[in-house]
Amino acid sequence: MDMQVRLSRQDPLAIAAPLLALAVFSDDQPLEGVVAEADRLLDGAFSRVRKAGDFRGKEEESALFYLPPGRGGPTRIVFVGAGKSSESDAESVRKFAASAVRKAESLYLTRVAAHVPGDFAPVLESAKAAAEGAILAAWDFRELKTAPEESGAGAAGTGGDSEEEAPKPLVEEMVLSVEGDATAAEEGVRIGSAYGAGEGLARDLQWLPGNIATPTHLGEIALGLAQEYGFTSHILGPDQLAAEGMGAILAVSAGSEQEPRLIVLEHRKGPAGSPMLALVGKGLTFDAGGISIKPAGGMEEMKYDMSGGAAVLGAMKAIGELELPVDVVGVVPSSENLLSGRATKPGDVINTRAGKTVEVINTDAEGRLILADALSYVVDHYSPAAVVDCATLTGACVIALGHHAAAVLGNDEDLISELREAGDRAAERCWPLPLWDPYRKQLESTIADLKNVGGRPAGTITAAWFLSEFVGDAKWAHLDIAGTAYGDPTAPYQRKGGFGFPTRLLLEWVRARAQ
Ligand code: BES
Ligand code: MN
Ligand code: ZN
Repeated sequence: MDMQVRLSRQDPLAIAAPLLALAVFSDDQPLEGVVAEADRLLDGAFSRVRKAGDFRGKEEESALFYLPPGRGGPTRIVFVGAGKSSESDAESVRKFAASAVRKAESLYLTRVAAHVPGDFAPVLESAKAAAEGAILAAWDFRELKTAPEESGAGAAGTGGDSEEEAPKPLVEEMVLSVEGDATAAEEGVRIGSAYGAGEGLARDLQWLPGNIATPTHLGEIALGLAQEYGFTSHILGPDQLAAEGMGAILAVSAGSEQEPRLIVLEHRKGPAGSPMLALVGKGLTFDAGGISIKPAGGMEEMKYDMSGGAAVLGAMKAIGELELPVDVVGVVPSSENLLSGRATKPGDVINTRAGKTVEVINTDAEGRLILADALSYVVDHYSPAAVVDCATLTGACVIALGHHAAAVLGNDEDLISELREAGDRAAERCWPLPLWDPYRKQLESTIADLKNVGGRPAGTITAAWFLSEFVGDAKWAHLDIAGTAYGDPTAPYQRKGGFGFPTRLLLEWVRARAQ
């Protein structure tokens, strides 16, 4: 159950909650509004902390106080640093709400209130970001841990003689007070809650290991979404893939006991004659590299090689939940990439759905193969106005951009700009790399139409070039999320593991197109 975010128009200092979080900018001089009021209730205790120089309002700083009993309202107040007010934006709110949840979590509280002042960002964006930050911070993956013994798991977390820390309960509710127009705030919370739940689903799927999140399992999850939100679904198995001529997906799954799937979900809520938007996500549920096997160290991370597909399913969930007035098709080609006597070998030449032949130089460059068939499928069946794919496609992208931006490449500058702006709004950023003609030469094969790898130089660009060969005349852009989909947290609304990236980016792009 996702955390619930509820708006309150009450005076925040009257909200009966175990904890109230208040944002303090580093330049709040002197204290104003609710923060000043709270400080008065504390007989100036917070002012003294600031005077002592122990709280400067930087992000990640916090100061916790206990109000005198018997007055009603919150039991505790935490002041949370929000950085410079001149630099504040939706992401500052996302982090503030997430910090409030983290603080509650550390105190074993399951409810928290937070007040978002009017000077962060426009009301709708503020409320939306607060809901996203709170829900994503509260999110955790615990399905695969057996429940701890009853004793020792109490509120103090110190019972029993077990060294192990009792698991902290998840925060279940945020009571949110947002300064400004109530209707805009309601709308923001509605949208942000759907985004948070959608990205939460993406994270759930990312976290699931390869033995559970198989292509078949992803297909079942997609069917569940179709039932819940009224999507039309097509889940293609091996026979249908063969009938469609999808030799590339079949070549990648050849070494695996698990059947591949092509997952297709249609959401049609646009006005008559609306253009179709296509979201395509790499759903490689485990990438051992195939015969071109990867080194053992860190190979377990390759359960995250379906992160693009997870984000597409997460985005479809939110699109369905919000009933966005737009036509969207979500497509997830899903397979394992393993080794066996039946596996595709380096040097093999395979057929793709689009009719182009590919010399498989390296079986570890499998993502572009399954995407090639998925892209040609969606382009031919839906004639989309724009196609956006996302994939943990190249290690080279991690080298180029690290963990703070995905790469974006494509054949349409306007689409690339839209994605960059969507990423900026969502704080899931992407940065362009050039898809210039000279790079194409690296994919020339002596035996087939294309090789599946272009050598070490510009690996992210040659991978995108490969994909571009399968989109026909469609407007298309590709997000390489190898460095941003999972890892160590860099914001309080993330945990170690899958981040759900770029679910929010995709949603911001679709929502902008829907308006
Ligand atoms: N799934 C990997 C890319 C990847 C690497 C994702 C690191 C996340 C973190 C992809 O299938 C792959 O193996 N790519 C190869 C391509 C190479 C053989 C041209 C790579 O990047 O090494
Ligand atoms: Mn690979
Ligand atoms: Zn891969």
